[in-house]
Amino acid sequence: MKGTTMPQIRIAPSILSADFADFGREIRAIEAQGADWVHVDVMDGHFVPNLTFGPPAVKAFRRHVTTTMDVHLMIAPVDPFIGAYAEAGADILTAHVEAGPHIHRTLQAIRAAGMKAGVALNPATPVEAAEHLLDLADLVCVMTVNPGFGGQKFIDLAPKIRRLRGMIGDRPIHIEVDGGVDPTTAPGLVRAGADVLVAGSAVFRDGSADAPEAYGRNIRAIRSAAALLEGVAP
Ligand code: DX5
Ligand code: ZN
Repeated sequence: MKGTTMPQIRIAPSILSADFADFGREIRAIEAQGADWVHVDVMDGHFVPNLTFGPPAVKAFRRHVTTTMDVHLMIAPVDPFIGAYAEAGADILTAHVEAGPHIHRTLQAIRAAGMKAGVALNPATPVEAAEHLLDLADLVCVMTVNPGFGGQKFIDLAPKIRRLRGMIGDRPIHIEVDGGVDPTTAPGLVRAGADVLVAGSAVFRDGSADAPEAYGRNIRAIRSAAALLEGVAP
């Protein structure tokens, strides 16, 4: 990132790895332990082979989130649910480019509903799929696992992230990386141009809402691994 402005790295724990019976306390714990955003993975058992939660649950999470609620939709179709996620209090709503034929319309609708718009790319989707969407997007999420589950093996897509950073240029668009992020993979991702790191298992491992200090240690380990790079703000 030499020669560019210092990016602020944001750590966004995914509550997919939290205790599903205790979301309120888990959200409060990760925020108290240094999370910048709260990443919420919505899955429909159709676009991805797993199911999580829908708008009423996300609305209940909102009461506990004081930072930014970053909602990652792994659902198809998306458009009929945009209003419900706006009403649930999503700050950022991310839809997959693979989820339907009219992603351009989807991003317009997300912004029209008052949220920031994100577009996510599956590992096999070329970065060019986002090229004509950049004026409509506040965030591009590069998946480094096949979406659907936490704790999967990291797919190294640093060259894809680097190309995306080049395509984005000076636009104020976040590059978020989601899947397999930990202190060993974070530096290469930030070096390639990512500024938002989603991490599920690497944040929630070894801790609980009763023993949240481990969350803090895990968040700091990712942050400081990324910050060892020249020109990156810790
Ligand atoms: C995967 C989800 C991710 C997931 C990441 O489909 O979008 O947000 O929780 O989990 P880890 O960090 O364990 O790979
Ligand atoms: Zn996610």
